[in-house]
Amino acid sequence: MHQKRVLSGVQPTGCLHIGNWLGAIRNWVELQEEHETFVCVVDLHAITTPHDPKTLAKETNSTAALYLACGMNPEKSSIFIQSQIPAHSELCWILNCLTPLNWMERMIQFKEKSIKQGDNVSIGLLDYPVLMAADILLYDADLVPVGEDQKQHLELARDIAQQRINARFSTKENNILKVPKPLIIKEGAKVMSLTDGTNKMSKSDSNEFSRIALLDPPDLITKKIKRAKTDSEIGLEFNNPKRPEASNLLSIYSILSGKAPQIVSEECADMGWGKFKPLLSEVLVSALEPIQIKYKELIQDQTELDKILEKGRLRADEISRKTLNRVKESIGFLNRDY
Ligand code: TRP
Repeated sequence: MHQKRVLSGVQPTGCLHIGNWLGAIRNWVELQEEHETFVCVVDLHAITTPHDPKTLAKETNSTAALYLACGMNPEKSSIFIQSQIPAHSELCWILNCLTPLNWMERMIQFKEKSIKQGDNVSIGLLDYPVLMAADILLYDADLVPVGEDQKQHLELARDIAQQRINARFSTKENNILKVPKPLIIKEGAKVMSLTDGTNKMSKSDSNEFSRIALLDPPDLITKKIKRAKTDSEIGLEFNNPKRPEASNLLSIYSILSGKAPQIVSEECADMGWGKFKPLLSEVLVSALEPIQIKYKELIQDQTELDKILEKGRLRADEISRKTLNRVKESIGFLNRDY
């Protein structure tokens, strides 16, 4: 049976945290059972804002190791590094020339990020969503699992494929690009910052105490949870808009303990923070322990990791080259190699 294809990726900027795991990687792990899955470490995206060359390669490697440690299976999925597949940059250029500038200027994430960057906004930052469209379209992806904040980027990828490529260059016999669908991840899996329950947990937050990194040791996890923002009400509850922190911490607890929200609500209805926080730290520590053990094994045996990434690279290269050639031929490039 023909399986649907899935593609996704995360940037290698700083250590992945529980928001990346619960909001993204955990879903890929499930999806790979019944889909042909491609996941990449998007290092080309990581240089759209100022980056440190001393850490980029190391973080790219450790991000790939964390995908595996979280349960991505190289027998079932292709795991690869974006910058090692030349077709991403090449298709990005072609799409750049076919995408109207005013589509880009309305991208919300660009506006937000460029305000933070001040005078130092690169063309790459504006182009970020076109590169993401190239990532997706190269693999004829049916489904793209992304968080709510990436929905606009996915719409853009669909518009580029449909209106700018297929509508203009496809023939009756030959449709050029597959138009992908977003797979928006369930609300409960969106993990918020520990220091502000109205903001998404983020690698770029300057305060390390706003997030739990997947490689944080137990004592640091406990310390971060102790310091996490709370309120002065007694009794913990979900879904009270005035208590975003309560909702967030209960939701992390519910996901990691495997107890349904209903059960957690009852368990914590009369509980104070002093009693709840140690429980939460405990489930976090034990949920992260197997990931940390697997990660250490992988990092200590670089040859195994290299083998997995080489296998992913070969598969990604093969598929992406075919799509790229289809696009190049259809827009009129003189193409020799297929
Ligand atoms: N922009 C995505 C994010 O921040 C990362 C990303 C890059 C991506 N290319 C992708 C996600 C392709 C899905 C598919 O989460």
